[in-house]
Amino acid sequence: MSALQNDAVTGRRPLGVMAALPQELGNLIEVMRAESGVRTITHGSRDYHVGTVYGAPCVVTLARIGKVAAAATVSALIHAFEVDAVVFTGVAGGVGREVRIGDVVVADTLMQHDLDASPLFPRFEVPLLGIARFVADRSLAAQLAAAAERFIAEEGAALAQRFAIQVPQMHRGLIISGDQFVASAAAVETLRTALPDALAVEMEGAAIAQVCHEYGVPCAIVRTVSDTADAHAPASFATFLTELAGTYSNGILTRFLQARA
Ligand code: ADE
Repeated sequence: MSALQNDAVTGRRPLGVMAALPQELGNLIEVMRAESGVRTITHGSRDYHVGTVYGAPCVVTLARIGKVAAAATVSALIHAFEVDAVVFTGVAGGVGREVRIGDVVVADTLMQHDLDASPLFPRFEVPLLGIARFVADRSLAAQLAAAAERFIAEEGAALAQRFAIQVPQMHRGLIISGDQFVASAAAVETLRTALPDALAVEMEGAAIAQVCHEYGVPCAIVRTVSDTADAHAPASFATFLTELAGTYSNGILTRFLQARA
């Protein structure tokens, strides 16, 4: 099934824009509704919102939580909606010691920290694919990072003051994904020991990167740090999700999509 042909006005294939939860998507669907109207197509228990945002043809959807949900959703974006690239936005737990709540991490590489088919295959390697670290699309990640840098430069100081966080910093590097919400000092220390260059942990990114790799579709992932994956993580995550996740996604995606249009 193909739910979408090229955008009728621009002739371009759309960009897939994903988040796990509605709070992580910001007001993207409202902006689409005002700009082009929204065509919503339900497919495999997900709603896909088709239209134009800041001049860029997009299919916007919520994956829900976890690697399987993310893999199924991005597969539909690729097959049913024929997206030419995928961008994922959301929150993550900070793992790198220099990564603080309110910082932004753009993935250069992604891996599944809970994948272990050893001794049959090396720990973390996707069996029969021979890859442990998936590389985000260099150009797309650079565009996302530039948008995040601009957002921080223009709004970071005010956000820090208003929400009692440090002025946000940008990080580029490894994001790790697994089907666990990491919420103890011991668990985050175990991840640091196993993967010393990991900056942030979440539950979808590496699954999306794997599917995109297998289909040759460029992808990039941006995460705002909602917690530091320790015992405070559940409360910090809940507060950040309600108060700030949407502000960051709006600020970054607005700049990213305007530059792309
Ligand atoms: N997403 C946000 N915080 C997280 C955490 N601590 N563990 C996994 N995913 C997360």
